[in-house]
Amino acid sequence: MKNLINIIQLKPLGDDRGSLVALESNKSVPFEIKRVYYIFNTKENVSRGFHAHRNLKQIAVCVTGSCRFVLDNGKNREEVVLDSSTKGLLIEDLVWREMHDFTPDCVLLVLASEYYDEADYIRNYDDFLKEAK
Ligand code: TYD
Repeated sequence: MKNLINIIQLKPLGDDRGSLVALESNKSVPFEIKRVYYIFNTKENVSRGFHAHRNLKQIAVCVTGSCRFVLDNGKNREEVVLDSSTKGLLIEDLVWREMHDFTPDCVLLVLASEYYDEADYIRNYDDFLKEAK
């Protein structure tokens, strides 16, 4: 069975000046990047996500701060705390995701394999369970 939590270790290219991480399509990122967005300034006690996608791969990195991801494939539910700028969480098609416990300084960077398409979202958990079967 495929792992639900797939962490991609991003190589820090640091030197004595500090750190740098480079992300490249079809190399460290296992798809062609079509879209990048970032979530920041998340208010206290706010959770986000609560949806799945039919056709979208994403990598999420907490560039600063941390948050907790819950991933659910309709059979299993697992969670991981993203708390490192060198930890990328790969999220595949038809995976329900929730993000919780954002620290005030959290900047969550997301790389996506497709352009934004509201029609690709499954925002109802029962609909997701039907499609995930
Ligand atoms: P949404 O994906 O619902 O946020 P989250 O899953 O983090 O809770 O997106 C929030 C709003 O932003 C929604 O109105 C759609 C819009 N949006 C875009 O226009 N383009 C994008 O690339 C993303 C991710 C969201």
